[in-house]
Amino acid sequence: IDPSMDLFHEIERLKKEKNAIVLAHYYQEPDIQDVADYIGDSLGLAQQAEKTTADIIVFAGVHFMAETAKILNPEKKVLLPDLKAGCSLADSAPAELFRRFREQHPGHIVISYINCSADIKALSDIICTSSNAEKIIESVPADQPIIFAPDRNLGAYLNKKTGRNMVLWNGACMVHEIFSLEKITKLKIRHPEAKLIAHPECEDPVLRVADFIGSTTQLLKYTQQDNAKEFIVATETGILHQMQKGNPFKTFIPAPPDNSCACNDCPHMKLNTLEKLYLCMEFETPEITMDETLRTAAKRPIERMLEISK
Ligand code: 13P
Ligand code: SF4
Repeated sequence: IDPSMDLFHEIERLKKEKNAIVLAHYYQEPDIQDVADYIGDSLGLAQQAEKTTADIIVFAGVHFMAETAKILNPEKKVLLPDLKAGCSLADSAPAELFRRFREQHPGHIVISYINCSADIKALSDIICTSSNAEKIIESVPADQPIIFAPDRNLGAYLNKKTGRNMVLWNGACMVHEIFSLEKITKLKIRHPEAKLIAHPECEDPVLRVADFIGSTTQLLKYTQQDNAKEFIVATETGILHQMQKGNPFKTFIPAPPDNSCACNDCPHMKLNTLEKLYLCMEFETPEITMDETLRTAAKRPIERMLEISK
């Protein structure tokens, strides 16, 4: 790419020329968020993907998100700037092992967090996200046994919240398990007025001391509605861009990771760059493709989720 090229301008041009829409997750780098037509959490992104009239969906997020958009839009072209943008949580549930796990629990229905592969979705009864999980669980009769996959932290949090005893798959997100309770506690002592806000993919000890727990969209809303001037944010750092934009006079401190060499960036989300976004729009590759039998099987539990979330 010519370094003098105005990528913002070029991406806007390509959007118009190709009737393309750019959907971005809050964990994307700030430039990508600024050029996106819609920025949201996993539920918002799935809902936008379901209703768009664009011919091309450019998904600035990770593979399972783009895959969900393709499942809902088989006739549209779905592009992902970097096909290697995966997800440690989705990877923690290989389909064959999960199929056996499900067989070991007959009579259970399967609720899967959207952060999973199309193969896992096809083995599930209903999909949920962190913003609608309680509602989805409540839609299932109280005496119906449930398997929840793949996130054990979100699953344990939901068991506590709903009083259910869901069987949990033992998966986790590498970014949300990185936080140090000890360092967070020290930070809270130094910032006594700060509110600790956390994503439910965090481990229980962090969630116990949080003032508010929610999906990325819910965390963002909380920072707009709450009167606190300082927030300690226990999730991926990309969300700080919108928090800061919406609240220029408030301070946002990323929750400290356990190991000082580590950071709270998701290495998968951050594989996408503005350059790759431009290139994928220009050349219409890499594209998400999927076997039709798998697609229809994976679509059913997503549609159930979208129906319940209306
Ligand atoms: P939400 O934006 O739906 O809260 O999901 C967070 C996440 O980890 C996405 O990978
Ligand atoms: Fe997956 Fe965690 Fe990255 Fe989200 S933040 S894409 S759950 S690895």
